[in-house]
Amino acid sequence: MNELFKEFAKFVHDLYSSNDFIPLHEPIFQGSEKEYLIETINSSYVSSVGVYVSEFEAQVAEFSGAKYAIATNNGTAALHIALLLAGVKSGDEVITQSLTFVATCNAIRYCNAEPVFIDVDKETLGLSPDCLERFLLENTHMDDEGICINRETNRPVRVCMPMHTYGHPVRLKEIQKICKKHNIAMVEDAAESLGSYYQNKHTGTFGKLSALSFNGNKIITTGGGGMVLTNDKNIADRVKHITTTAKKPHAWAFEHDEIGFNYRMPNINAALGCAQIKALPKFLVSKRSIAQRYKSWFAGSGIQFFNEPKNACSNYWLNAVILENRQQRDEMLKLTNENGVMTRPVWVPMHQLSMNKNCQKYFLVNTEWLADRLVNIPSSAIIND
Ligand SMILES: Cc1ncc(COP(=O)(O)O)c(C=O)c1O
Repeated sequence: MNELFKEFAKFVHDLYSSNDFIPLHEPIFQGSEKEYLIETINSSYVSSVGVYVSEFEAQVAEFSGAKYAIATNNGTAALHIALLLAGVKSGDEVITQSLTFVATCNAIRYCNAEPVFIDVDKETLGLSPDCLERFLLENTHMDDEGICINRETNRPVRVCMPMHTYGHPVRLKEIQKICKKHNIAMVEDAAESLGSYYQNKHTGTFGKLSALSFNGNKIITTGGGGMVLTNDKNIADRVKHITTTAKKPHAWAFEHDEIGFNYRMPNINAALGCAQIKALPKFLVSKRSIAQRYKSWFAGSGIQFFNEPKNACSNYWLNAVILENRQQRDEMLKLTNENGVMTRPVWVPMHQLSMNKNCQKYFLVNTEWLADRLVNIPSSAIIND
């Protein structure tokens, strides 16, 4: 396989027409970014007031089909607020996948709630509805008030939070149905899946709320930034209120009616977002075409390229391959990085992190199997105009 990994490094250099080190994901600023940034600086409205914030919110709402989109200063803040407004209280439990980026479960902890880790599907890399259903049937009951209670801990299970790994949609309809049956809210961690659709509907529009990220490594970036999506007007108003320090709207008075958060996206970041979102359709075309190039290259190589799941159209934010075992994974990581191509293993699963050792976990067979085999390969869009 060592020769194959070296050939792969050469293929990636050809793909990106460069002999330099090829990173995993680079932002592309070829549109109105500079113009909008200069305009923002000249206007002096660089902070949490300014036209670009509401403009960016409107554009993300329109693109995704969500009724409301509220910008935040990063995706983790968006997740935190989404969980709070889905009703998560101190001492509650939130079911999520162990195979995710740490921000998913950090947001749960910020609510003083406990994550419960369940398995992912090998076909989606995201939360498994089959595992969710089994966990709920075996471990929970509904109390007199219709609240789903974990029998082992006696805590309410308030939310289920699937994550669309690398932009590949989970089986949203099935998860949604199971959540409904057990009276649990669904919050989507859609940080990686802007531009991904499940059954022709944008990810992040199935849950009661969801969160996007515009971190520098995402498909479009605001430097740092996030967005809460929801179809509920009351929730949207509450998100806006508590992310802006819960200040009562008034022409001059300065009064706050609860403990809020300073989570609003600054106007200067939103200016970048307004320029980036114009390029999103182009980025999506390029990323899907890069995925096809990889798919053809790996065909017959003995290495599995990860394809978008059934019923889904993925943004292919980060392409991935599945190796035979951990040893082969490590060989690929070593040889590609040594040959100027960045590759990276999937995150260490959440249930294996020291701070999560005591959390409840359920049937993590696919998670551990994938953790030994999954590798990301360079995925930046290629725009030649
Ligand atoms: C799955 C997932 N959740 C949450 C986040 C948090 O987003 P941010 O970095 O904008 O806080 C990220 C990305 O960074 C992510 O990949």
